[in-house]
This record gives sequence, C-alpha cells and structure tokens, in this order.
Amino acid sequence: MSRGPRIQSAEYRCAASAAAEFPPPRGPEVALLGRSNVGKSSLLNRLVNRRTLARTSATPGKTRLLHWYDVVRGEQPLALVDLPGYGFAKVSRAERQSWQRLVEAYLDARRARLALLLQDLRRDWSEDESLLLAWLAQRDIPALVAITKVDKEKPMRAAAREKALRAAIGLPPERVIATSAETGKGIDELWKAIHAEL
Ligand code: GTP
Ligand code: MG
Repeated sequence: MSRGPRIQSAEYRCAASAAAEFPPPRGPEVALLGRSNVGKSSLLNRLVNRRTLARTSATPGKTRLLHWYDVVRGEQPLALVDLPGYGFAKVSRAERQSWQRLVEAYLDARRARLALLLQDLRRDWSEDESLLLAWLAQRDIPALVAITKVDKEKPMRAAAREKALRAAIGLPPERVIATSAETGKGIDELWKAIHAEL
C-alpha cells in the first residue's frame, strides 16, 4: 500500500481535566478512545512517526487527562485527542464517574469529527466498547475501530482473533482496521480512513 502524504508537523498542544479547560478548536479533531493499556498513546505516536510524543506506559491508567496534539499531514491540519482510558480495575466508582463525565463532556462539545475506538486483539469486545459506540452513534460522530497489538499473536492466531472481533464489533469491514504500533501494520490504511472522514 502507498505511504500517502507526509507528516509535516506534530506537536503537543495541551491537556484538560474538565470541559472548562478544553482549548479553542483549531482543525478537525480525531478522538482516540479505548480501554486503559489498549495502546492509544502508542498508536498516536506511530501515526505521527514520533516515538515519544505521547507518553506511553506499562502501567495502565496513566492518561487521566485529555491531551491535544496538533498534526499537519500533507496539507491537512488536524488534532489528535488522546482521551483517558477506562476499565482499569483498581479505580473507584467516583473515579469511573469522573471519567464518564469528562469523556461525555468532550463528545457533547461536538468537536470530534471522528472517533477512533481502539480494541486490543487479545481481548474480547465488551459492553464498554459497545456502550462507547452507542454514545458516538447518539451524537452522530462517525467511528472507526483500530484493533491494536496485532504483532502480539502469530499470524494464524491473529487472523482468527481479527475475524472473531470483526463479527462482535459489527461495523462495516472498512471501518475496522488491524494495526500494530510496534510494526506499523495498518497505519497507512488507518490514515486513509481518517482522511476520508475529515
Ligand atoms: P492509558 O494511557 O493508560 O489509557 O494506556 P494507552 O491506551 O495509552 O496504552 P499505551 O500506548 O501506553 O500502551 C500500553 C502498553 O502496550 C505499553 O507497554 C506499550 O508499549 C504496549 N503497546 C502498545 N501498542 C502496542 C503494539 O502495537 N504492539 C505491542 N507489542 N505493544 C504495544
Ligand atoms: Mg495513554
């Protein structure tokens, strides 16, 4: 597959922990959503070819804020917004509620032109992911699903997992893309799908 346009620039803009702190919109925003540790920050780094732009961690639940990254790819300016992950077992009910409030506030602000929902290849699609797709549909925000960490399984097993996930997700095939932040698999395809929505 062709590499597509170059990343002209990618830089960190700011963080927010509440709606009052959301920065003024600049270009179209693409929201990265998904379970803690699913690989949101890693995928973001791979999308912009910068190993350490977004902080990644082996300890889940590190990103408790929304983080804005300004990107220019080809002629297209956009912002990638790294949302806090959910589903981290050790958080309290109050923390879960504050996560939900923050994410819903962001989605309600109607800034996201597109949402990228990440799903780990090795985990099952759960009610949390279904609920997020429903939140997006309610708000008419188009969604793509990136299956992450496909390098973690051998090809045969990976293909079987991908097939099972696609069936569970239930979106049209072109809206689900198998990726690896480690190898770069699926990244050009993902960019193509992102640009098609902007
Ligand atoms: P939170 O910010 O805690 O919500 O996590 P996150 O979704 O941003 O995940 P992050 O990118 O920090 O990645 C979590 C762990 O998975 C890190 O140890 C990454 O190195 C690893 N990881 C992420 N993507 C991949 C991938 O495609 N392949 C492999 N092998 N490891 C990955
Ligand atoms: Mg992160």
